[in-house]
Amino acid sequence: MCVVGARPNFMKMAPILRALAAHQPPIPALLVHTGQHYDTDMSKKLFVDLGLPQPDLNLEVGSGSHAQQTAEVMRRFEPALDEYKPSCVLVVGDVNSTLACTLVAVKKGVPVAHVEAGLRSYDRKMPEEINRLLTDQVADRLYTTERSAADNLAREGIALERICFAGNVMIDSLEASRPLARAPAQTLRDHGLDSALVSGAYGVVTLHRPSNVDDAATLKHLLGLLAQVAQDLPLVFALHPRTRSNIERFGLQTMLDPARVALLPPQGYLEMLGLMAGAAIVLTDSGGLQEETTALGVPCLTLRENTERPITVEQGTNTLIGLNGEALLRGVAEVLAGHGKRGRVPEFWDGHAAERIAADLWQWLKP
Ligand code: UD1
Repeated sequence: MCVVGARPNFMKMAPILRALAAHQPPIPALLVHTGQHYDTDMSKKLFVDLGLPQPDLNLEVGSGSHAQQTAEVMRRFEPALDEYKPSCVLVVGDVNSTLACTLVAVKKGVPVAHVEAGLRSYDRKMPEEINRLLTDQVADRLYTTERSAADNLAREGIALERICFAGNVMIDSLEASRPLARAPAQTLRDHGLDSALVSGAYGVVTLHRPSNVDDAATLKHLLGLLAQVAQDLPLVFALHPRTRSNIERFGLQTMLDPARVALLPPQGYLEMLGLMAGAAIVLTDSGGLQEETTALGVPCLTLRENTERPITVEQGTNTLIGLNGEALLRGVAEVLAGHGKRGRVPEFWDGHAAERIAADLWQWLKP
C-alpha cells in the first residue's frame, strides 16, 4: 500500500509505482491519497503531469492544524489498512501524512518502508524534521538518497541492516519527464503574462516554509530582497497558496513590480521543470528544488539557515544563504558574471532509484 499526501510526495511515488509494476514478478500496489493536498494546482495537475494513476482510495483529509491533519489521516487510514491488509505500507518524504500512516501501520504490525529516510536538518522547529525523526525510528525498511543519511540514522541508534542506499527517486521523475518539460515562454503566455520576461536570463523563486512566510516582518524582508534582485534579473515567482494568502493578509502585494516579477500560481510538474531548466538561478526554501537544481546543473540559493540535503551543497549547485541580503545579491551577481556553481550529480541520482527499491522490497517481503 503506497501512500501520498502532499505535493512533494507525488514526484517520488510516480517512479516507484512504475518500478513495482515493471518488476519481475510484478509487485501489486494500491495507491492511497490522504488528501492533505487536494486542489487542482497542488494535486490533480501533478497526477496528470507525472502519469500517476488515480488513487485507489482518497481519504480527503484536507487542511488543518498539524494535530488535526495528522490525527484525521490516522483515523481515516486505519480502516483502509483493516480492509486491504497489505503486506507492507510504503511512505515517502517527510509530510504529515508520512508520519500519520507510519504510526497507524506499525501499531498494527504492518511493516513500513520509508523512502527518503535519514535526511536531517537538525532543526526541530521544522515540522518536517519531527516527521522524519519519528518515521525513521519506527519504520522497518529505510531507503536513503545520499550516504550521509545512514550516518544520521546510525547516530539515532538505528541498525544498519534496516538501511538500503537506493538513490533519489525524485531524480527518476526528473529524468523521465525532461523531454516533456514545458517551455518557459509558453508557461508565461498560458497565464496571460509577457513571455519576453524569460527571453534572456531570468531567475525562478519559490517560498513556502512557515519560518519564511508566516511572519510579516520576515516575509516583507524577503520580498524586499527579491525586489532588489529583480532590478538586475527578471524573476518568475510560483506562489504556494500559503505564501499568496500571507502576502495579501500582510498587505505586501505592491512590493514586487509586475514588469520585473511574474507571479504565477503553483505550477504543474512539467511547467516547473521547464522553468527551472531554463533559469540562470533558482532562489528557494524548498527541499525538492535544492535536489532538482543539482540534477539540472542550475545554481540554487537556498533561503534557509540549514538543509537536510547536504549533498546538494557539497557536490551539487546549492548554496545556503539564510536571510542574508548581501549573500543573495552577491550570489546573483556571480551567476550573472558567469561564475555560478556548476557542481556534479551525486551517486545514484541516475534515474534508476525506484528500480533498486523495487528489487530490494521484493527480497525483503518475500516469505
Ligand atoms: C506541506 C508539507 C511540506 C511541503 C509542502 C509542499 C507538512 C508538515 N508540510 O506544507 O513539507 O514542503 O506541503 O507544498 O506536511 N492549501 C491549498 N490547497 C491545497 C493544499 C493546501 O490551498 O491543495 C493551502 C491551505 O490553505 C493550507 C495551506 O495551503 O492551509 C498549507 O497546506 P498544508 O498541507 O498545511 O502545508 P504546506 O505548507 O503545503
